[in-house]
Amino acid sequence: MDKLLCLLLLTIMNGGFSESYKILVSFPVPSQSHKILGDGVVRNLLNAGHEITYITSFPVSNPNPNLRVIEVANKFQDNLNLKAIINKEVDMKDWKLFFDMVANLNNGTLWNENVQKLLNDPNERFDLFITEWFYTEVQIGMAAVFDCPYIWVSTVEPHWLITRLVDEYLHPAYNPDIMLSSSTPFNFQERIEQLTTQITMTAVRMFYLNGIEEKTYTDVFETIISKRGRTLPPFKQVLYNASLVIGNSHVSLGQATRLPQNYKSLGGYHIDDVKKTPLPEDLKQLLDNAKNGLIYFSMGSILKSKDMPEEMKTGLLRIFGELKYTVLWKFEEPIANLPSNVHVIQWAPQQSILAHPNCILFITHGGLLSTTEAVYFGKPMIGIPAFADQFANVDRMVKKGFAKKVDLTLSLGDDLKAIILDILKDSSYTEKAKQLSFIYHDRPVHPGAELVHWAEHVVRTRGAPHLRSPALAVPLYQKLYLDLIAVIVIFIIIIIYVIKRVSSLLFNKNKIKTKKLN
Ligand SMILES: *[C@@H]1O[C@H](CO)[C@@H](O)[C@H](O)[C@H]1NC(C)=O
Repeated sequence: MDKLLCLLLLTIMNGGFSESYKILVSFPVPSQSHKILGDGVVRNLLNAGHEITYITSFPVSNPNPNLRVIEVANKFQDNLNLKAIINKEVDMKDWKLFFDMVANLNNGTLWNENVQKLLNDPNERFDLFITEWFYTEVQIGMAAVFDCPYIWVSTVEPHWLITRLVDEYLHPAYNPDIMLSSSTPFNFQERIEQLTTQITMTAVRMFYLNGIEEKTYTDVFETIISKRGRTLPPFKQVLYNASLVIGNSHVSLGQATRLPQNYKSLGGYHIDDVKKTPLPEDLKQLLDNAKNGLIYFSMGSILKSKDMPEEMKTGLLRIFGELKYTVLWKFEEPIANLPSNVHVIQWAPQQSILAHPNCILFITHGGLLSTTEAVYFGKPMIGIPAFADQFANVDRMVKKGFAKKVDLTLSLGDDLKAIILDILKDSSYTEKAKQLSFIYHDRPVHPGAELVHWAEHVVRTRGAPHLRSPALAVPLYQKLYLDLIAVIVIFIIIIIYVIKRVSSLLFNKNKIKTKKLN
């Protein structure tokens, strides 16, 4: 009934425009959090009545007549596990290794048999292509093949790598790079680090990645597009032709970044109505009965708690057992001899747990989705960042005043206990979380509805060229006024030359006169 009403309302709201569009959505990164964000895009668009083709690394269990799933069997390599990170066996700063992984992933998607079939079928057509940005940009060739506008989805806070595609670089003095762990305000050292990272990564792109990207673009799309009787437009032309960026970000979670008109911060669009997924009865009982409050502990989906060194696990169990609070730990396998106040679940309806009033604290790896959900439900958090943007996320939440950070080390248990007691003793953390939650919710429309609106807007206005930033058309030398500087320098040189010439002429005349007098 609810759904029917929603549909009816949506139809009325859309008025004469309500048309069903064919949309290709691509979220091939094989990580649970990327999947959740992709699913969120798909769900919102399906609910609005559009026909979706969804490229994903995960099987989709809930068939919808308007949904066609194209599964690509991508996998991250195994070395990204908790033990390896604690023992510092993976070097997250090794960019070459990282980009090789991204290229593998990307080739795996583009050369996938099912994706190739889709691309090679001359009868396929789409009104819109929506794709996640994950360090590679080659897939936009699909928009060229289907001759349709495209939208980036940025899964993280706004950063210069993505704004450069629709506007320009973000200023490094007050906009953090996603791979660095600092958030604003930067100290001197951090500010330098932000600048040098932007410069070195730009150089890496120019001299290393761009070549690879352009080659892959031609290899994958040239013959496909020629079958449709067209020639492949140059990579750079398509690259700077995105219609929109949908950002999984919001000021309550991040900073008030200055953004172009076609960057829409719609963080939280993936959060569905929690009433739709009620807690299973046993969990509901557990939360209802948690007199002193319940602490929910999850390290996300990539890091498995079961890979934790034994020493760390027993340490955590010991300190959890000493607390007067109930502890719910998302752990992939049952644990023997649990203290009576500690409970373990293999799979957790995280949003519904956080939504419960008796959940008083969230201990998390600090992924952006978990951070978003902490703010959404107004719960203070303790962040234990492990990789990628988690450090920056946690740093930001700490500065916002509703979180504390603990390092991921073997002594995690002991470090954690003191922090848990601290954060629960001081009511300011919970108050701050509630304040941010208010800011988060105080918006004109639900971000999911806004996502649908902007996607449709791009189709209706044929790529929304009116939202395009004029900065894209201005070359760097003009932005830096190097041409003006050149004119001034030439002018000064000419003046100096003229002055020299005139004075030497006068001087010479004087000399000649004096000679004659002699
Ligand atoms: C850029 O996008 C517009 C709008 O979608 C489209 O008409 C045009 O063909 C695109 N240009 C290139 C080079 O892809």
